[in-house]
Amino acid sequence: MNFTILHFDSLASTNTEAVNQAKRGASEGLCVVARQQTKGRGRFGREWISQKDAGVYFSIVLRPKIAVKYLSLLTFACAVAVFETLSKFGLNPDIKWANDIHVGDKKICGILAETCETNAGLAVVVGIGINLKSANFPPKLKEIATSFEQETGKTPDAEILLQTLTGFLSVYCEILYGENGAEKISQEWTRRSTYACGKSVRVRLRNETISGKTCGIEADGALRVQTESGEVKTVRAGDVEKLRTEKQHISI
Ligand code: BTN
Repeated sequence: MNFTILHFDSLASTNTEAVNQAKRGASEGLCVVARQQTKGRGRFGREWISQKDAGVYFSIVLRPKIAVKYLSLLTFACAVAVFETLSKFGLNPDIKWANDIHVGDKKICGILAETCETNAGLAVVVGIGINLKSANFPPKLKEIATSFEQETGKTPDAEILLQTLTGFLSVYCEILYGENGAEKISQEWTRRSTYACGKSVRVRLRNETISGKTCGIEADGALRVQTESGEVKTVRAGDVEKLRTEKQHISI
């Protein structure tokens, strides 16, 4: 994959800029990076707090030549790439289904994929936010999120972090695009996620909440959860919370 990196001081959202670039014909590998975002967004319409130099705010244009049913695995490939990047910088990450990256049960990175139709076909923009500093997070966010600074007492060089990230993104996206790519990425993801198997979780779906134990992912990345009655439910979209083995639980 060839990368072109556009650096901005401030943007509403790097995802919005990358979608606009894709619509104007940007090739796969166009990356947008900003030092701050004024309207950073997360999944489920949530805000992504993006103060200046407190995080890496990054979006990449992808033009995947894979079956539509496997498009969801793009974020799995990106989560594996982030996992490898954070490991290289001395952290001990975990992937929470589907693609949040945690350190010590707190979120350090979120990934947001958005599709857009362009004259050159469907493009997918994958936005990645990595927390470098969390000192200014609101108290509620401090309970559930962490940062490089909090974990290691220092922040990495953002440029080197980005170079490492793009290197791994290239490796794992190419694996996904290759022969048996979907299966290989599912395996890579499963190896790195404690959520893949045997985790007690509660899942908030649109119309119901289910609890049970995770038991692997489907070919498209959907999470299998076995409920107490023994029924296996397949979760394609929802908020997953880890349950403590004792009765209490924490939201993550
Ligand atoms: C989530 O966990 O809810 C996903 C968060 C994704 C945040 C990143 S920061 C860079 C890119 N631009 C955005 O507006 N969002 C993503």
